[in-house]
Amino acid sequence: MIYDAIIIGSGVAGLNAAANFPNDANVLIICKENSWDCNTFYAQGGVAVAVDEADIASHIQDTLSAGAGLCDEEAVEIMCRDGREEIANLIKRGMEFDRDEKGNLLYTKEAAHSRNRILHAGGDATGRELHHFLMRENPHQLLYHSTVTDLLIEDGICHGVRVYNEVENRCKNFYAKSVIIASGGIGSLYEYHTNSRTIAGEIQGICIEKGIELRDMEMTQFHPTVFIHNKGARKQLLTEALRGEGAYIIDENGKRFLFDYDERGELSPRSVVSKAIFDYKSKTGLEVFLNFDNFEKDFFRERFPTIYFNLKDMGFDLPRDDVPISPAFHYCMGGITTDLNGKIKGCENLYAVGEVASTRVHGANRLASNSLLEGLVFSKRAVEDIQKRDIYFKFKKFNDECEVLFKEGDREIKNELRAIMWESVSIVRSRKKLEESLSRIDTFLEGDIGKMLRLRLRLSRNIIESAISREESLGAHTITD
Ligand code: SIN
Repeated sequence: MIYDAIIIGSGVAGLNAAANFPNDANVLIICKENSWDCNTFYAQGGVAVAVDEADIASHIQDTLSAGAGLCDEEAVEIMCRDGREEIANLIKRGMEFDRDEKGNLLYTKEAAHSRNRILHAGGDATGRELHHFLMRENPHQLLYHSTVTDLLIEDGICHGVRVYNEVENRCKNFYAKSVIIASGGIGSLYEYHTNSRTIAGEIQGICIEKGIELRDMEMTQFHPTVFIHNKGARKQLLTEALRGEGAYIIDENGKRFLFDYDERGELSPRSVVSKAIFDYKSKTGLEVFLNFDNFEKDFFRERFPTIYFNLKDMGFDLPRDDVPISPAFHYCMGGITTDLNGKIKGCENLYAVGEVASTRVHGANRLASNSLLEGLVFSKRAVEDIQKRDIYFKFKKFNDECEVLFKEGDREIKNELRAIMWESVSIVRSRKKLEESLSRIDTFLEGDIGKMLRLRLRLSRNIIESAISREESLGAHTITD
């Protein structure tokens, strides 16, 4: 069987790419575990979108300012302009965003937006609602519990993917006229993160091994308000919208110390807030909390039900209790270099969209809630591009033997890698620690390890090398020496 398209990943970018193929096209969506094991599912705050034509220029400006000079301006214009149409289209097809009693769409505010322009759904369950909606509409085949272990590339042409199916415990090749990578970012490389536990950057590792360019990988974003004491790899996000609607950040003495760092206080860009919390904690040794005194209980439960009930399960009574917070890894601005249609440089029939890709739409620091919009806009453009192009496909059979994917001992190295990335490659970096991390990773790479771990290590290496080679601090990248 030769598919018209294989899509790796079932987040917003993957499912919306699928939605843009005709219903009768042969499209296969590959999910590492279940369809909901993706970052989209856990997105809380919402989707940023210009509220009217006049707001497009200001959405562009806010995105460029957050991006700190590293954005591709054309990419930003495309996202902010076409994003309005994408959202209107979703609403027309039946996606329900939250509205007031008169039926008007409700827009909330998040840090570094100059006005309220964040749509939300199910209160703080925007990603989950959007994921459900796209899954309900999806007419295409999904393959579950399947990890992509290789891209079938020869002479600059991609012919498909090699997949390890966990249930059958074997590898198999799948062939397609085009492959769209929509597999998300890199969260599991870090000890503390807000991502789905399936997100570990292995495809980016495969790209590195195939000589496909990744760029801006040092631009990693840390969400400032995360409850990190829950069990499980994914830590509990406390959406920016909480601060947008009145939550304060305080120390254990009740001091709103953020104003010592930036006059915008809680509404400073997230990199500023993350760095301030990191700095304040290490200087004072004080614990830092999110405080909800400005909220009525009924309103809070209705507006932020996911957070209310998740935190209730962990013993918090919101909005009465303060919640201890820490920054945690959240989003990777860098990725596989693509053009503005998601096409990967130097390889035919291969595309990347969403967090895994770099169009430079987010520059050095992503503006809050721009990622779902990016996924919608650029996945559509990729499918339009595929449909316009002459496909270079000529069937070629690849051997489907897998390298050894996992080895005993991998788990310990994986955990040490997470600790290294968190300690030395996170909010504030020093050249000395980056160099030390690189040499530790090189030692791991020389050992007897499985392929999947090797891919994580290669990617981590790439992130660290990018961090070393950017000499000055910029956006989300802070270097002290
Ligand atoms: C949040 O809800 O704070 C996350 C939004 C985002 O990362 O864009």
